[in-house]
Amino acid sequence: MLNSTSVHEAALKFSGGRKLLSVESLHRGHIHETFISTWSSDGETSRMLHQRMNNQVFQDIPGLMHNLKRVTAQLRLDTWRARDYQLEVLEVIAANDGEAWATLPDGAWRTFTFVDGTDTFDHCQGSEQAYGAAVAFGNFQARLFDLDARELVETIPSFFSSTHRLRQFQAALRADVKERARSVRPEIEFVMGHTHLLELVETGQAQGRIPVRVIHGDTKLNNVLFDQITGAARCIVDLDTCMPGWSLYDFGDLVRFAVSVSAEDETDLTRVGLDQDIYRAIEAGWMDSAGAFLNADELELMPLAAAIVTLTVGLRFLTDHLTGDEYFKIQRENQNLDRARVQFEMVRIMERNGAVLAPVTSR
Ligand SMILES: Nc1ncnc2c1ncn2[C@@H]1O[C@H](COP(=O)(O)OP(=O)(O)O)[C@@H](O)[C@H]1O
Ligand SMILES: [Mg+2]
Repeated sequence: MLNSTSVHEAALKFSGGRKLLSVESLHRGHIHETFISTWSSDGETSRMLHQRMNNQVFQDIPGLMHNLKRVTAQLRLDTWRARDYQLEVLEVIAANDGEAWATLPDGAWRTFTFVDGTDTFDHCQGSEQAYGAAVAFGNFQARLFDLDARELVETIPSFFSSTHRLRQFQAALRADVKERARSVRPEIEFVMGHTHLLELVETGQAQGRIPVRVIHGDTKLNNVLFDQITGAARCIVDLDTCMPGWSLYDFGDLVRFAVSVSAEDETDLTRVGLDQDIYRAIEAGWMDSAGAFLNADELELMPLAAAIVTLTVGLRFLTDHLTGDEYFKIQRENQNLDRARVQFEMVRIMERNGAVLAPVTSR
């Protein structure tokens, strides 16, 4: 944990002549450490949001910040593709020396304008909110349609690749450092029976059917700031995995996160379920915002996107269980195994459930 002196010291690097009144921890987000500061200048108060960047997860901080600047500049362009994009663009505040981030003894810090009067949600509040989030993320992709993906750095190499995750899993299984493989045979079989699903998108890319696009890469509901009064989506945050990927990934991850009705680590699998209304709202929102630029192959795979991403996330939990819980923090024994089981159960329900998987084009 950071002490308050070093947090103050970090905030002051971005003072820009303002007077610092207070800094407090936000206690949100799982990757960076986030703080809010309040300032006064000419009798006006303003707020900023500071993050000490996690350089374990993101090892190329200059690359990360290059992407952030490039992406936010593109989002500000008024391209015809996203003329309906009414969201506020995340604004990076430069440090006093003009750099986009400041290096202090405890790490690299960056600062954003604090978007006032908004809330974020860890659980979806209903169809209207789900539709709003889907439109926001779909428009986000539309805005970035003309940005050449090669201009961006892969901030975490192979992050979206399901086949890479499969290879990591197979290596963990061979090494079996914690000797846990024996106790997770049904889960291993489940994965091995679903490798076709893990290969679909990348096979499509190799055949020239599925294009590489700039995507958000972390389309969880809590990365959308919703207006406290109107409930409308106002701003998309957490742009650290915004890099070359597949459009289907953003759609699938949003569905995975928002339709789930159980806890992520639920041990009673009968409580795992999917909210159909929320699924349909996300699908509608995605089609209304991204539908115009998706190609026929992407549209065809859309009904499978959530299952692919859910399976891949389950695979990552299972791999982490095998390697000794190195990536996803645990509070109790077998928590990553339970998380994997929930994801796999969701995949089973998606497979059984015609409504979730029905082709979008047939409605
Ligand atoms: N510019 C901002 N204005 C207001 N709140 C923000 C802003 N940026 C982030 N937040 C809040 O902080 C949380 C964590 O930030 P985020 O960038 O998503 O970090 P992490 O990568 O750790 O998830 C968000 O879920 C949101 O609630
Ligand atoms: Mg976040």
